[in-house]
Amino acid sequence: MKVRPSVKILQSQGLGSRRECENIFWNSEIFRNGIQIDPEIDEISWGDTLLIDGNTFEITQYKYVLMHKPAGYETSHLPSHNPSVFDLLPKHYIKRGLQAAGRLDLDTTGLLLFSDDGQFIHRLISGKVGTRQEIEKIYVVKGARPFTELQLKRLVEGVDLDDEPEIIYASRANLLPDGQLELGITTGKYHQVKRMVAAVGNHVDALHRRVVGPYELPVDLAPASYVEVDPAPVLSRAPDKVA
Ligand code: URA
Repeated sequence: MKVRPSVKILQSQGLGSRRECENIFWNSEIFRNGIQIDPEIDEISWGDTLLIDGNTFEITQYKYVLMHKPAGYETSHLPSHNPSVFDLLPKHYIKRGLQAAGRLDLDTTGLLLFSDDGQFIHRLISGKVGTRQEIEKIYVVKGARPFTELQLKRLVEGVDLDDEPEIIYASRANLLPDGQLELGITTGKYHQVKRMVAAVGNHVDALHRRVVGPYELPVDLAPASYVEVDPAPVLSRAPDKVA
């Protein structure tokens, strides 16, 4: 029997194997705009918002997900000794191949983005929307000691980190009213914030990421929760023409 396009679409959404998606299509209650789909005559289309057995699914080519990462989770599909951030996402996201756009350390909290769109991930990780470095990541850093004006100045003027051929600069370094440091970076080196803070003579006691490029962690998004986001601010700009 010929496979119905609807079954292939359901499978592309990570909803199961071909056989499982056949079963969903023929035997589940699927509603589109409040009207139940009749599998004998209807087809599912890209862009549909469906209610399948009480769960809402937007049928899209790619997914873009923003998570509030809690402490104690590894940003890895193969964690060593701790749970994975992927354990916090529903299975259909994993099955369709969602990857994290960069990593946060086990103890770091805050904004972590995921997608199955390679271009979106690449632009976020490379830090480039056009040809310029435009994705700024903003962290809130709790220091072991109060941050000094000299430390902030040194972070912006650039620090020389072991094993890095270039000087690494903070795009911003501001003292917050509660004594924590707001630190912006546009590169993504290994343990970059911790090493930068150590290089100016302090130590990171707690690290929280608040912003990645155009995305800000919603204040009402609880740790371990996630929302889907619009990729347009990252994808809508074509790479700048090189002169
Ligand atoms: N820099 C770090 O040192 N750790 C993180 O988790 C992110 C940036």
